[in-house]
Amino acid sequence: MCGIIGCVGRGDGTLETLVHGLSKLEYRGYDSAGVALTAAGRGVDICKCAGEIEDLRETLADRTLSGEVGVGHTRWSTHGPPTDENAHPHMDCTDDVAVVHNGIIENYQSIRDELTRAGHTFTSDTDTEVVPHLIEDALDDGADAEDAVRTAIARLEGSYAIAAVVAGQEAIFAARNDSPLVLGVGDDALYLASDVPAFRDHTDRVVYLDDGEFARLDGGWTVTQADGTVVEKTVDTVDWDPEETGKSGYDHYMLKEIHEQPRALRQCLRGRVDELGGTVDVGDLGDLSPTGVQFVACGTSYHAALYAAQLFQAAGVPAQAFLASEYASGVPPIGDALVVGITQSGETADTLSALREAHRRGARTMAVTNTVGSTAARECDHAFYIRAGPEIGVAATKTFASQLAASNLLALATAGGDARGIVPALRDLPGDVQALLDDSAAPAVAETYEDAAAYFFIGRGLNYPVALEGALKMKEITYKHAEGFAAGELKHGPLALVTENTPVFAVVTGDGEMARKTIGNVKEVEARNAPVVAVTDGASDVERYADHVLTLPETHPRAASVLANVQLQLVSYHVAARLGRSIDKPRNLAKSVTVE
Ligand code: F6R
Repeated sequence: MCGIIGCVGRGDGTLETLVHGLSKLEYRGYDSAGVALTAAGRGVDICKCAGEIEDLRETLADRTLSGEVGVGHTRWSTHGPPTDENAHPHMDCTDDVAVVHNGIIENYQSIRDELTRAGHTFTSDTDTEVVPHLIEDALDDGADAEDAVRTAIARLEGSYAIAAVVAGQEAIFAARNDSPLVLGVGDDALYLASDVPAFRDHTDRVVYLDDGEFARLDGGWTVTQADGTVVEKTVDTVDWDPEETGKSGYDHYMLKEIHEQPRALRQCLRGRVDELGGTVDVGDLGDLSPTGVQFVACGTSYHAALYAAQLFQAAGVPAQAFLASEYASGVPPIGDALVVGITQSGETADTLSALREAHRRGARTMAVTNTVGSTAARECDHAFYIRAGPEIGVAATKTFASQLAASNLLALATAGGDARGIVPALRDLPGDVQALLDDSAAPAVAETYEDAAAYFFIGRGLNYPVALEGALKMKEITYKHAEGFAAGELKHGPLALVTENTPVFAVVTGDGEMARKTIGNVKEVEARNAPVVAVTDGASDVERYADHVLTLPETHPRAASVLANVQLQLVSYHVAARLGRSIDKPRNLAKSVTVE
């Protein structure tokens, strides 16, 4: 949530570099945006407004803004509504200091009261605005620019990634605590951002900042601790192309990312499954025979956790999935359990906090993440990468498929079980997803039901998390009411909601006991005149009771759930497209939620 960009060394191209970087970060927040620039011997110029990056571009068109050092920000509101005043950067009373911030400053109110008593004037509702005023005070006390920023940072409690520029200084000062920041090291210029895509067009060399670190970017870069001790940082190289963050001709990132699933799955599985031997190799993840596994995650990743827990249970390892935000309260002592955080971004505050709680209780922790160098990856004892490639659309799609594939690998490596059954299905999964994408009835289903009053999704076993995820995707991007239920629960209350205007999507795979029982539930809704959309591999006779069928290639039940989810992603996408929704940037949401 919220995106920060900064750059030094791009001369006349500084403003465009900042705005372009912000457009790459818009998935992190998009209710207001702004930039601040300065240069040697000059003041600080800022431009900011409510709205998206395009609105900022339009506002900039009427302004002359130049400078060779700058910072920019795209916001997802936490304190105060999205207005021009609350947009970042924020300035001090003298307009000599500009600050952008991601996170929440918990003690801002007491600092603001103190500064107000001392005569400072505030112009926004934000927590961030205390920072430039603190810097102003330190400058007034005679500190140089770097020391003034350090002095301000030392006063802050909470989570922050902060970048500041000071009039006339050809430098950016930055600090991180509980919110991501990464430096980009180009040949002639330096960059700073919340995430690599912001500057990936300019460099692939990156330095990840850790909590408590302070960075100065000018002709060169230094990273220090709060007390000034120099930290030797490693320069890493990212291994994906800038094109991977473009739309490649698709109308939306979400559609592009749905279509990238075959590739994402191939990348996830590459080198990790040995088909001949029917074994998997997940690399060195420490002792892979825990007495129990606890998964912690949020949103879509929580649905992956529900799926993963079932795989471990099936292999005889006690496993449970917890909503990360509920983990701290009421979870029994851990003992020898492995605690696995499933998190696409690796930066979700609730998940990080649950993993830290697990660590405090003495558990071994593992991050299953898409983001190399993310906080979760660095803080956990082990990291297992799902390798889905960058996901820009706010609604998670390809990362969910890759989380499910990665869960299969981990379950096989950790808990054992019948690898030969699933390994060939995993091998075929990318091709099966492609076949489904090439010939899906989802657009027609979306057309039929775009005006529905609500959408319900049901499934059992591994298809229960798929039902939950189908509903989450639908509500996220269409803004319409949608709920996912364990199929057996429908008759215990939700059936009262079912009418002829509420299509029920029934995920039924295989022809076993669970399929038969779910078909019983399908008959219950059919008897109430609700339209039924069966998502099925055709192994059972559910089609007889369905108004529409979304067909899945025949495969192993574990892989069938992945495929069923792809059909549901497509339905949600096409309903949202028909309704003209802001698919890649749904209202009120942000891709990376770095506050609890
Ligand atoms: C929904 C979605 C969110 C995330 C959740 C956790 O489409 O993307 O529900 O899954 O915010 O995010 P990560 O996986 O980054 O921890």
